[in-house]
Amino acid sequence: MSTSSPSAPAAVTVNDERVVALAQSIKSVYVFEAPVRIWHWINALAITVLAITGYFIGSPLPTQPGEASANYLMGYIRFAHFAAGYLLAVGILGRLYWAAMGNHHARELFWVPIFQRAYWAEMWGMVKWYAFVSARPGRYVGHNPLARFAMFFGFFLLTLFMIVTGFALYGEGSQMGSWQERMFGWVIPLFGQSQDVHTWHHVGMWGLICFVIIHVYAAIREDIMGRSSVVSTMISGHRTFKD
Ligand code: HEM
Ligand code: HEM
Repeated sequence: MSTSSPSAPAAVTVNDERVVALAQSIKSVYVFEAPVRIWHWINALAITVLAITGYFIGSPLPTQPGEASANYLMGYIRFAHFAAGYLLAVGILGRLYWAAMGNHHARELFWVPIFQRAYWAEMWGMVKWYAFVSARPGRYVGHNPLARFAMFFGFFLLTLFMIVTGFALYGEGSQMGSWQERMFGWVIPLFGQSQDVHTWHHVGMWGLICFVIIHVYAAIREDIMGRSSVVSTMISGHRTFKD
């Protein structure tokens, strides 16, 4: 059993017979509480809407035929982008609240134990497993160490970047003195000028899309090849073990 398991004492080793016996007796562990699961799927929906609408903001559709006043297509696309942007930002605030109130798995998204040697050893083990080099992965109750790394750097920090740059751009539309401009207006001169923020906000989207592709691949791959349930765990909250 991994040292990141909540049910195992900190200093156990994989060969400890008592731990193996304990692990064999555990069929299911409640890992992701309802707020984490609900947030996960709302967040996935928001990011999907943001990526599709963001793409069309960056590469707009051709001008529509007919009276200009009868067409509001780009307006609707931008509205959907901003609505999903607010949902994403409020969702992250709610998720941070739950990191404080929820179980210890609710905090895994927000930090990585980079100063622990054992963490890097376990992560290397997972790299080898994903690269088809090792035949058997570790067994984890919460996120595996590699997933944790990807979720913190590839999702959480990047999403914060998208929120900060997104609201800085939004502040330009809502104008001087608006709360968006007062809170995030400093971002635009930091990058240079508005177009630079557009460009980095756009690049960030492709970074997040890479994260999502790898994340969904890894989740489904682990479900099939790994030692425990994965996708159903983000639906029911329970991790079940195959061995
Ligand atoms: C835009 C799309 C998505 C994003 C941004 C995303 C992001 C995340 C994040 C940040 C976590 C960590 C949750 C936490 O600790 O609070 C997570 C976990 C998870 N996600 Fe997603 N997700 C997306 C789509 C999906 C899809 C489509 C699936 C199903 C195939 C999925 C399956 C999972 C699973 C199973 C976990 C838990 C992993 C584990 O057991 O360690 N996700 N996701
Ligand atoms: C996953 C998160 C997000 C993604 C993938 C995303 C994607 C994009 C993309 C690709 C663009 C076009 C950039 C360009 O080439 O000019 C854009 C523009 C923009 N985004 Fe986002 N965005 C995200 C989050 C946000 C958030 C949280 C806000 C805040 C409300 C926001 C507000 C804006 C604004 C104001 C624009 C400029 C609209 C315009 O110039 O008409 N975005 N976004």
